[in-house]
Amino acid sequence: MADETLDELRRRREELRRIALEASESQHRRGKLSAWERVERLLDPGSFVELERFIEHRVTSFGMEGRRRSGDGVVTGFGSIDGRRVFVYSQDFSFMGGSLGEMHAKRICQVLDLALEVGAPVIGFHDSGGARIQEGVASLAGYGEIFMRNVAASGVIPQIAVIAGPTAGGATYSPALMDFIIMVRGISTMFVTGPRVVKEVTGEEVDEQGLGGADVHSTLSGVASLVLDSEEACFTAVRRLLGYLPQNNLGDPPIYEAVEPEVPSLEGIIPEDPRRSYDVRALISGVFDGGSFFEIQPAYAENVVVGFARLMGRSVGVIASQPRVMAGCMSIDSSDKVARFVATCDAFNIPIITFQDVPGYLPGLDQERGGIIRHGAKVIYAYAEATVPKITIILRKSYGGAYIALGSKHLGADIVYALPSAEIAVLGAEAAVEILYRRELAEDPSRRGELVDRYRREFLNPYQAARLGYIDDVIELNEIREKLIASLSALSGKRVRRYPGKKHGNMPV
Ligand code: HXC
Repeated sequence: MADETLDELRRRREELRRIALEASESQHRRGKLSAWERVERLLDPGSFVELERFIEHRVTSFGMEGRRRSGDGVVTGFGSIDGRRVFVYSQDFSFMGGSLGEMHAKRICQVLDLALEVGAPVIGFHDSGGARIQEGVASLAGYGEIFMRNVAASGVIPQIAVIAGPTAGGATYSPALMDFIIMVRGISTMFVTGPRVVKEVTGEEVDEQGLGGADVHSTLSGVASLVLDSEEACFTAVRRLLGYLPQNNLGDPPIYEAVEPEVPSLEGIIPEDPRRSYDVRALISGVFDGGSFFEIQPAYAENVVVGFARLMGRSVGVIASQPRVMAGCMSIDSSDKVARFVATCDAFNIPIITFQDVPGYLPGLDQERGGIIRHGAKVIYAYAEATVPKITIILRKSYGGAYIALGSKHLGADIVYALPSAEIAVLGAEAAVEILYRRELAEDPSRRGELVDRYRREFLNPYQAARLGYIDDVIELNEIREKLIASLSALSGKRVRRYPGKKHGNMPV
């Protein structure tokens, strides 16, 4: 008898191996890895343990009795990355297009529940035709159950979605509720309604990549946090990303060995002429541990740069105006980018370092009509709400609302430094003089130069703000790293309760 039961188990295991093998062949034909290969290549070798592997759907209509397969089109379980516990799920497109039915959803929900209870990150590989049509409302319910768990886990454990194939309809919303979306160029697509429906409804002709490919979501929509050229590069990115994050909101990110910055001196990086631009990434390379900067949304709203880095081996979130693009102005898209990143850092105990060189919010019809007020408010909200250590360095321009919004003391920055080149004012000199001296200039336009110079001398420096205590110190360019290291060390262990008890604020970022 014992032999018979063992034989049965071995037969079933053999069947699972055959399924995985066939899935690999089918996926390779489509230029993709299989669900199992993805999990195994992401995790530490030999660490993956699969859960609920014999699950099958229980649908009988639409000829579904004959279309059962152990696992129901998704692989779930746990393993480790660099020795740290993670939970994973990976959709198997080779079975019914990775479509999501009741039992498929149940498997995903189990790992989300376990990850949340244990306090460990979850990584999902998405490769799916969406709700399984034959299961009707049961598959919609499955999405709802997943969404509910994504929301519960938000801000508690890191949630990373890798889009490794199509995601259509409801399948896009679980990734959208997670912290990071990583797409693979050429094989990933995300859209709510596909090209055919778009054509029928709006008459627009577009293919799948043009509608929701990786390049669209990394440059135009801002849906993707990162885009990589291959699946292998994605696994490396996920592993690297996790290295900046804690296991959960109650822990701290791992500490790495300190590395000296790539650029030994910052001298000359910021041009003296405030009208000349520069790449703020060069400054970042000279301040943080060498090779540690990991940019998020690098091709979206390039007028601001955000990403993780390390300072003496410890994770920090970096937000920096990018003078090279739109002079570093804040816009609708850059507001969304900053607000979300600040909220992510705050949720996961990652101190926020902000570099300001910002002439203000971008003027224009499309910005005003597109809701720059509504989007810009998110930046203020996110900074004001964040209780992690916040340090701001004003490099050059710091004008108007952007001075306040991007990590000023008034919104709770703990320490603010400025370079001698900082210009902190309500407006730039030319614009201010135009308003202050309209009548005088109408009478005698030749006075413009003298008035601009006077305004510059009086306002476009860091000392008025320093006299009022809005800036803690004026420092030299090459002192930034040491000041940040000392300040972060002083602020470690910071605990703040900023608000009276309330359910939650009214501004999701
Ligand atoms: C059942 C599905 C399926 C689905 C694909 N398949 N999507 N089965 N339910 N949603 C099956 C196909 O019938 C096919 O089965 C196999 O998966 C592979 O699909 P192909 O079409 O051959 O592959 P490909 O040409 O690569 O196209 C992939 C695709 C396309 C772009 C994903 O299949 C597609 O458009 N699927 C439908 C997408 C969709 O509209 N989903 C519903 C979204 S609504 P065989 O047996 O032939 O191999 C939704 C609502 C949720 O998700 C809302 C929650 C809030």
